[in-house]
Amino acid sequence: MIPTKTLIIVIVAILVIALAIGVLYPYMVNIFHRESKCKIRVGTSPDFPPFEYIDDKGNIVGIDIDMMKILSNKIGCDMEIVSIDFNGLIPALINNQIDVIASGMTITEERAKVVAFTKPYWSADQAIVIRKDANINPQSLNDLVNLRVGVQSGTTAEQMISEFVSSTGKNINMVSYQSYVLAIQDLLAGRLDAVVVDSPVANMFVKQYNVKISNIITTNESYGLAVRKDNTELLNKLNKALDEFLNSDEWQQILRKYLG
Ligand code: ARG
Repeated sequence: MIPTKTLIIVIVAILVIALAIGVLYPYMVNIFHRESKCKIRVGTSPDFPPFEYIDDKGNIVGIDIDMMKILSNKIGCDMEIVSIDFNGLIPALINNQIDVIASGMTITEERAKVVAFTKPYWSADQAIVIRKDANINPQSLNDLVNLRVGVQSGTTAEQMISEFVSSTGKNINMVSYQSYVLAIQDLLAGRLDAVVVDSPVANMFVKQYNVKISNIITTNESYGLAVRKDNTELLNKLNKALDEFLNSDEWQQILRKYLG
């Protein structure tokens, strides 16, 4: 017979050891798997070539994606791409479902109230896109009055047209789409007269579809990456990495790859 006292000591010892392992396990895992890295969750709306789009194999690719791979690498983190409709990106960031927005997002005062932007990495204006065989030739917002015009929901194009309509009291039949690709498809199908979209993206649509640009509206927009306002650590790291990256050959290679 084992004395009761010994038995109690053994049981207590086992419990203490079990507890210690339970508490220390997460740290032990870290010691044994040093390669386990931080992960940056990158939100993007892949309907915006050449910045983010879905390729023939179904992968999300583009300038923003390649850029984020390199920036994450410089920061020492892995990255994961999360596909979200453009108007859902800022809510997803604020709700901590993603850590960075890389989606050709224009730096605006209004957005900067709720997210923090990095330094700019691209500039753009707005283009009026019509069918190649169209018998209209709109040069300005005024020329779009009473036409059916597609934009993507939550974009600066949508905001610009809404402001024009409310400030002039004129009518534009604006239709807001979840994705710019859907807007272009409706343009081709004759359900829209024009699409208003960022100029670099319009240039790609001209290469891919039977559409042309009737004019550019100068808006002087700059694209930035966005992070949560309280995430200054990531913001500083991204800005530092961007500084290096924008002056590198890698950046030039990415531009050649996507812009030719
Ligand atoms: N630059 C415009 C904006 O910030 C459009 C961006 C749309 N981006 C996208 N990936 N669909 O509103």
